[in-house]
Amino acid sequence: MAVIFPRWTNHLPTVLAAVVPLAAVVVTGAIWYWFSPWFTDVGYQPEQPVAFSHRLHAGELGMDCRYCHNTVERAATAAVPPAATCMNCHKVVKADSPLLKPLVASFEGGEELAWSRVHLLPDHAYFDHSVHLAAGVGCNQCHGRIDQMERVTQEQPLSMSWCLDCHRDPVGKLRPREQVANMAWDVTTADYTRKADEQGAPMDVSGTRTLAPPNHCSGCHR
Ligand code: HEC
Ligand code: HEC
Ligand code: HEC
Ligand code: HEC
Ligand code: HEC
Repeated sequence: MAVIFPRWTNHLPTVLAAVVPLAAVVVTGAIWYWFSPWFTDVGYQPEQPVAFSHRLHAGELGMDCRYCHNTVERAATAAVPPAATCMNCHKVVKADSPLLKPLVASFEGGEELAWSRVHLLPDHAYFDHSVHLAAGVGCNQCHGRIDQMERVTQEQPLSMSWCLDCHRDPVGKLRPREQVANMAWDVTTADYTRKADEQGAPMDVSGTRTLAPPNHCSGCHR
């Protein structure tokens, strides 16, 4: 009788049993990695109830981010300012502008302005602003040049792989703490020595504190 299947095919079931699950894991992993919203949320730019311009206020007028987002250095979330903060100026500046009508109405006892969220992680992911700012990660690293935006747009994917890209190797992406709100600071051209401790763990740029960005699942999924 002719040999139809060569002898090595006797091992085929064993080989397949080993290779197929492995391939399944690799394919699942690749799909998860590449199709996680690395690009999909980028460019999201919702309509806002008042045409507030960061380009004008933070750019031209040079206002500090923390004047309005005043909890960002001590809390997990960055507060969006109430109408009263805006009215510190707009009681006088352009008080009669039609563009400010919803703002004035809100201030005079109406409902709070319903700003649309631009950046939003799913509930199962945990993020804390204060920890990142204390470590020397600047706003523009995650939000882009807000000071040049007429209307806020999501510039970075904020996906899991994007977070992990920095957590695995943060050293070249940090800056001195007092520069975190400096939109013009560019970490890729900044001239300072990158710091690591004796174990090779990353340190902040002052070299006084070892940092431990989590890469384990429970660090971000609490
Ligand atoms: C005069 C007050 C004011 C200043 C100064 C200001 N912001 Fe804002 N910011 C707001 C308001 C109001 C909103 C909500 C409306 C919007 O998205 O434009 C906002 C929204 C944002 C958002 C989007 C929030 C979301 O929903 O995802 C980011 C990011 C942001 N600001 C960053 C900055 C940065 C960085 C600076 C400094 C360069 C800054 N802001 C300066 C008032 C301010
Ligand atoms: C390490 C990345 C990172 C840095 C640095 C960062 N942000 Fe954010 N920011 C985020 C993420 C992620 C969200 C969405 C958080 C969520 O949905 O829980 C966010 C959300 C916001 C919001 C909406 C309100 C909130 O807290 O969810 C504002 C306003 C904001 N950021 C302003 C700022 C300002 C101002 C700075 C600098 C002083 C800054 N951010 C620095 C990543 C960052
Ligand atoms: C430090 C003072 C200051 C604060 C605080 C401030 N603004 Fe302004 N705003 C200005 C100035 C100055 C202008 C430009 C006026 C001009 O064009 O002559 C302006 C312009 C505007 C305009 C355009 C008005 C028009 O008719 O062209 C809008 C809308 C606006 N601001 C909304 C806001 C909102 C919303 C907030 C709070 C989140 C805010 N501003 C906080 C100073 C301020
Ligand atoms: C550009 C760098 C960078 C990016 C981007 C970044 N992180 Fe971090 N993250 C750090 C550093 C550095 C630390 C360590 C701080 C320390 O040890 O003091 C950290 C710490 C943390 C912690 C620990 C907080 C705690 O309470 O101990 C969490 C949670 C976290 N990051 C979540 C995120 C998430 C979620 C994202 C993406 C949406 C993200 N990070 C994006 C640099 C980054
Ligand atoms: C540095 C923070 C961080 C760490 C560490 C982390 N994740 Fe995530 N993970 C996120 C963020 C942020 C999202 C939301 C991504 C989005 O909205 O695009 C996410 C989403 C997910 C999702 C939902 C699927 C998806 O793509 O949205 C799963 C499942 C998940 N993570 C599992 C894990 C597992 C398992 C680990 C440990 C191996 C882990 N994560 C470690 C930040 C993290």
